[in-house]
Amino acid sequence: MSDRLIIFDTTLRDGEQSPGASMTKEEKLRIAKQLEKLRVDVIEAGFAASSNGDFEAVRSIAGAIKDSTVCSLARANDRDIARAAEALQGAKSMRIHTFIATSALHMEKKLRMSPEQVLEQSKLSVRFARKFTDNVEFSPEDGSRSDIDFLCRVLEAVIKEGASTINIADTVGYGVPERFGDLITTLRERIPNSDKAVWSVHCHNDLGMAVANSLAGVMAGARQVECTINGLGERAGNTSLEEVVMAVKTRRDYFGLDVGIDTAQIVPSSRLVSGITGFPVQPNKAVVGANAFAHASGIHQDGVLKQRDTYEIMRAEDVGWTTNKIVLGKLSGRNAFKQRLQELGIELESETDVNAAFQRFKDLADRKADIYDEDIQALVSDQAMQQAGDEHYKLVAMRQHSEMGEQPVAAVTISIGGAEHTVECSGNGPVDATLKAIEQKAVSGTEMTLYSVNAISGGTEAQGEVTVRLAKGGRVVNGVGADPDIVVASAKAYINALNKLHSNDTRVNPQIDTP
Ligand code: KIV
Ligand code: ZN
Repeated sequence: MSDRLIIFDTTLRDGEQSPGASMTKEEKLRIAKQLEKLRVDVIEAGFAASSNGDFEAVRSIAGAIKDSTVCSLARANDRDIARAAEALQGAKSMRIHTFIATSALHMEKKLRMSPEQVLEQSKLSVRFARKFTDNVEFSPEDGSRSDIDFLCRVLEAVIKEGASTINIADTVGYGVPERFGDLITTLRERIPNSDKAVWSVHCHNDLGMAVANSLAGVMAGARQVECTINGLGERAGNTSLEEVVMAVKTRRDYFGLDVGIDTAQIVPSSRLVSGITGFPVQPNKAVVGANAFAHASGIHQDGVLKQRDTYEIMRAEDVGWTTNKIVLGKLSGRNAFKQRLQELGIELESETDVNAAFQRFKDLADRKADIYDEDIQALVSDQAMQQAGDEHYKLVAMRQHSEMGEQPVAAVTISIGGAEHTVECSGNGPVDATLKAIEQKAVSGTEMTLYSVNAISGGTEAQGEVTVRLAKGGRVVNGVGADPDIVVASAKAYINALNKLHSNDTRVNPQIDTP
């Protein structure tokens, strides 16, 4: 058996199924490029048949990614599989991932198919997918709650048809580690041709055991883990990539496996996904939470200062945390800025983008004495966000007046399709007044389902990063804006979301769209 663990990232497919996490094609492409930098083995780029938007996203990712295999999900039918194959055509290395439910509950109540029909459909689908590629993955959905004898029949049959990866899904997060591990062992032992496929695990986190279940599967012989950045995903999410990777690396003595991940890209990946989706990372989240390496108690601090490994099992810099040091300031030149971008692994598309980012840096340095790595990451991300939406709405000027005991008032000038409008509004606070003023002119008719502010670095002089989620008629977009003034950051985020809604690039969540 191989001693390498394949990391299959499904942030762009299962992660995106999380309500509110839908992304535009450009956003998916940005994340895919970061996943390639992270050196994941397989990127599940989407569900090509679910919508034209997702088809295009899979196609553009397939065309752009060279070092990871690009995969599309497909239900077990010819139309979905052909669509996945078409979207993946340009990929250097492609995989089709087809699935069908195998539990009695799902077959009877959801699919309204008999077990024999499901068995037949599974075989036909893998046979059809093999016409396009040798790299075919089959998943029995709700596998962990399926009858073991039936599961063995289906999996033996699909391996015979040429499925090269068998992915056992704990779709509803019902598994417990020991039982889930036993399931993988039993399947591998009982299925005569089990050695012809790589065994994979796909766990959901409804009971908080997705990572534990996945690792139990690995101990039982699974050599692929399906996971997402920050554990993003429907309901309580999927297995978290960073936790699995760091568990296997840190406890190599126990797992005895290698992973190909460039761990220094873990935190940048986490930030990017969180920024784009608007799903913040909880501070005490393992590996990528802001407190994951912070030692507050005196005893711990003392120990770490004397010898780091007294209380630290991983090094913060190994997973991509920067040391929160002052890196640049007002007097730093373009070259120093460009070099810092390189050191942070930030690649901007063109010199024009570098110049624009440098200008933003200078503006920021005028207002904020110490510029941290986190500030640079935020301003580049802010720039990309603003560029991603079209520029139908532009923030021209804004001011607010707020006084204790009085209702704050904001005046905003925005350009809509080239025409400038100034409007004044009152609100519960300066942010509320400002966003109301923008909405009064934009008349978007959207519902705001999320507003969150996050301080990028410590201290009151920090930049605020604001995420706004707007929903309208089944479409959901996230807007992000960063600025040392959180009212400005809020206005930027709102305008960014409006521009995304205005652009045709915005897509609906595949879940809503899928027939
Ligand atoms: O959770 C699940 O069952 C899935 C399958 C498509 C693998 O995401
Ligand atoms: Zn899933």
